[in-house]
Parts: sequence; C-alpha cells; structure tokens
Amino acid sequence: MCGIIGYIGQRNVVSLVVDGLRRLEYRGYDSAGIAYLSEGKLERKRSVGKLVSLEAILPPVPPDGSVGIGHTRWATHGKPSEDNAHPHQAGSLVMVHNGIIENYLSLKKELEKEACVFLSDTDSEVIVHLINAFYEQGNTLESSVQHAVGKLHGSYAFCILSEDAPDRLIAVRSGCPLVVGVGEGEFFVASDIPAFLSHTREVIYLEDEEIVYFSKEGLEISDFKGARLIKERHQISWDPVMAEKGGYRHFMQKEIHEQPRAIIDTIRGHVAQEAGDVILAGSEHVGDIMENCERILLIGCGTSWHAALVGKFLIEEIAGIPVEVDIASEFRYRDPLLRKGDWVIGVSQSGETADTLGAIKGAQSKDIPTLAICNVVGSSISRETEAVFYTHAGPEISVASTKAFTTQLTAMVLLAIYLGRERACLSEEEGQHLLHQLILLPKQIEEVLKHEDRVAEISKRFFRYRDFLYLGRGILYPVALEGALKLKEISYIHAEGYPAGEMKHGPIALIDENMPVVVLALKDKVYEKIVSNVMEVKARGGIVIAFAEEGDTELAPLVDEIFYIPKVIPTLSPILMTIPLQLLAYHISVSRGSDVDQPRNLAKSVTVE
Ligand code: AGP
Repeated sequence: MCGIIGYIGQRNVVSLVVDGLRRLEYRGYDSAGIAYLSEGKLERKRSVGKLVSLEAILPPVPPDGSVGIGHTRWATHGKPSEDNAHPHQAGSLVMVHNGIIENYLSLKKELEKEACVFLSDTDSEVIVHLINAFYEQGNTLESSVQHAVGKLHGSYAFCILSEDAPDRLIAVRSGCPLVVGVGEGEFFVASDIPAFLSHTREVIYLEDEEIVYFSKEGLEISDFKGARLIKERHQISWDPVMAEKGGYRHFMQKEIHEQPRAIIDTIRGHVAQEAGDVILAGSEHVGDIMENCERILLIGCGTSWHAALVGKFLIEEIAGIPVEVDIASEFRYRDPLLRKGDWVIGVSQSGETADTLGAIKGAQSKDIPTLAICNVVGSSISRETEAVFYTHAGPEISVASTKAFTTQLTAMVLLAIYLGRERACLSEEEGQHLLHQLILLPKQIEEVLKHEDRVAEISKRFFRYRDFLYLGRGILYPVALEGALKLKEISYIHAEGYPAGEMKHGPIALIDENMPVVVLALKDKVYEKIVSNVMEVKARGGIVIAFAEEGDTELAPLVDEIFYIPKVIPTLSPILMTIPLQLLAYHISVSRGSDVDQPRNLAKSVTVE
C-alpha cells in the first residue's frame, strides 16, 4: 500500500502535492517523493522517512509550477531508501506507483537487454522504463501508456508526466484505488479522497482498466482498449476526518473491511495454481533457508503468537514437519533446546517487537537459521533474519491487529503448501485444491462483512457484560484466544480464550447468567463435542453466542445467538472465523464508548521489554 497523488491546474503544485501526501501518509510512510515541472524543467526530490524529511529538502519558497506528482511509500519490493523512493524516472518521464507488478523480473530482463539502466530494487521502476521505451520509439505519451499497460501483470495505480509535455498528466487504474478530484480549472488524482478533499468535493471514481488523460483544460477517460468513457461525477459529503478513514468510523473498522484486499495482495505472485504449488518469489531466500528443515519453532507476541499457534496446525498437517510454538518473551529467557535442522520463524506485524527480535537474535547466537513473517519491509526483524516472507496487509493504524493477523495466517497457509510440496507430503491435486479454496476466501470474507449489522445487533445485547469466555477446539482454539484478546484490548472487558475440551477442568465453575460464552463450532470431527460443551453451559444457566457454518441447523435451537459463516475447509476456517470475532469486539467497544483505535495502556509496536 502506498499513496499517490497528481495535480494539474493553475496553483502552486508543490504545496498542494505535499498537503495531499500528508493526508495519504496513513497508506505508507517509509519514504516520500515529489516531481514537478518548474519553468518547463523537471524537478524531483525524494527522501527516506516520513513526509517531514521530504519537506526539509524542499525549497523554502515553493517554486513555480502547476503540474506534478507525489508519493508516500510503504515498501514491498526493496528496502526504504532514496533510490527506491518514488517518483521513478526514465528519460523525460517520471512516475509514481501504488501496487505490485508481478511480472517485473521478466520485464526488467527484457528492458535491460535494450540498455535500460535500473537504479532501484523496486518492481515499480519497470513501469516508467517500459513506457519510456515506447515513447522513445516515437509514440505519443498517451499511446506509450496504452502499449505498456498491455504488458503489465499485477495490481497498479500510477500517475505519469513528461518534461516534454508540460501540460499533460496521465493516470491509470488497474487493481489499486484511484479517484479523480475535479476543481475549478484544476484536477487532482489520488489514491484516496482526503488527499484533495479540502480543495474540491466533486469526484470521479475510476474503475479497473481505466486511463485518465488530463490537460489544464479538461480530462478524458478511456478503457484499456481505447474506448472513450463518460463517467458520472459525485459530490462528497464526508468531513475530512471521516474521509481519512474511508467513510468508516474507526481505522479498526476500515482495516477489518480491508481484509479481502490484503489477503489478495498477500497471495499475489505466490500461486502456481496448475502445479498446485507456491512460488516464493519476492520472499527473499525463504526457499534456500527451508532446505533440510527438521523442526520449526514459531515465535511471536500477542496476535502474532496466535498466528503462530494456527501455523503449527497448518505446517504439521500440510507439510508433515513438527512445529513448536513459543511466546517470544518466554523463548528468549528459557534457554530452549535447539539442534541442527531446527528453524526459527519469528512472526511480527511491525517487525519491531523487542521480545521477538531478542528471541530471533538468541536463536541466531546458537547458529539456528531464522526466517520472519513480517508486514513491514525494512523493519528491524526483517533485516535481522536470513529470510523474510512478507505479508502485504499495508499499514495497520489501529492498535488492535486485524488485517495483519489474517494475512499472517494466509502466509502460513502458503508456506505450509510450499513445504508440503517440497517434501512430497502434499500431492499436486491436494495443492491445487487448497490454493483454489484460498483464492475463493476473499469473496467469502466479503460475504461475512455484508452481515456486519447482525454482529452489531448481537453486540448491543451483550456490551454491558463484564466477563466473556471464548471456546474453540483444534485449529479454532487459537482463534478463540484471538477473539478474546480483541475484546479485552478495545473494550476493557475480561475475556478468556480456552480450548473447549478444557472447560470441564476448571472454567465451568465460572459459568452463570453473567458470563456469555462464545462458541466456535465447525462441522468437523469434534463438532459433537462442541455441542456437548454448549449443553453443559446451558445446563448451568449460561448464555451461548455461537459462530457456526451455514447449513448447521442443529445449534440454533440450543443457543442464545448464532452467526453463520460460509462453508469453508477446516484449513482456512481460522481466517474466516476470525472476521465476525473482530466485528464483535469492535461493536462492543463502540457501544461502550471506548477509544477503539488507541486503547488505553497499549502501543502499536512494543519496542521495549
Ligand atoms: C494485537 O492486537 C496487539 N495489539 C498486540 O498483541 C500485537 O499483536 C503484539 O504486540 C505483537 O506485535 P507485532 O506483530 O508487531 O510483533
């Protein structure tokens, strides 16, 4: 996830673009850059770090110029550095990009044969070289862009301008958000509306495979085949704060809704569907490092530890490799017995959690190879480990982790399939089936999200309770832990996750009409046992809120509330089952009037012990 903006009009472009980038910084903030035409000359400034670092190198008096583009980066390919920062340049062209170009390596090879010199490690740079290659063959900028998009695979939104065409700006959308702002004699184009909301409320939403050609006089929109399109204009009524959250009330809610997209981005480029296999392209050295692996130790904290617990089920079942899971702060001080053939995988959204980093360093001091499953490119953990498998959740602003968790689970599934195929534990057909189901998952998540109102209704009934028990079995036990953690983090309600089979060994003493029990029930091999748990709770006057799968008619008459998720294979059930639990915690927190995005006493990255 990155933020891009373009402007063409009469006003000073530098201040408008910088102001727009400030409002897009939530999409990425590891580097920023701007390019603009001033007196017909192209100027480009880039800087590592937040936008303030870019502002520090801009001229104190905004230079003249009324056409320009800007970018705020969330690294995916290539660490945060000035060379990797956008805009990228080729000849007289400069471009900013959001998204992932899946076939960048093959395009780069072709272009290098034609003497193109690449100056960054990014996938994005191929776009500008590719367009420039067509441009230098004598095509117009417009047709060069049209030729180039035919060769790009992946998801992208980009914005390009040329020093030779000072009154033109072109923007393209295919798989990543892009919206046009229409002002008085001026146009904006950006990843998100807040970038220009203080200047205009009139917008045109672009769809995939659309290109906008701007001049100072007007704009034209066409599809990739060149057919001209007439698009409706809309008036935005959101206030600026609402707009930053995409119209959602809180970042957490927005991030919950971003999960289908985040999962698609995490899967992207890794699936070899026909071979029933996983490709580790872009996940530096994971393949080399996993050779000769006899045992995996998964470590993490909080939500990332819960992802590790699910990972154990996945890797053991799919790849047949024994897995142990540890809380990072325990692992680092208990002097674990490690041996040759062990591999340590640190799971971390931020890549900055002190305990996870310390545990990784501890393993390295015993010559154990380490791998990270991490969301932040260039973070301390991703730099420390020998190999990294990146999730592509994009920046997670809300302290309570949501999309980071489900993308970590997605990464675990991919890794397990990769290992299973490598070790011949998983047949081609089994691999194909799993990948097929994984590809369907984002749509199933969308289905669950459509029923958010139903979860909100359940929340209204229960938000005043002070204690909750979450029960799950097998692969859903860590999901019960995660559901309980979400609730306690943002609602300050005491909530415990428990393996359902353990209820009779203690927690059953707590059951009464004051403690709702959240039960996660799938029609799997332990379904009957979960039903018995429900009966035991009801027999003691308890309240049951069940999360079950569509078609389950048995549970409804036994419980107080029920929410259905679409039918899903057990391997992927933790991802789908997590979504309504996130929504439950979210709506309970909202009903209690808690600070959803910044709960008391918590920090997004825990960089101290
Ligand atoms: C989850 O909602 C948390 N706020 C917290 O438990 C978090 O998962 C933990 O601190 C680990 O963070 P990391 O993934 O960035 O390492």
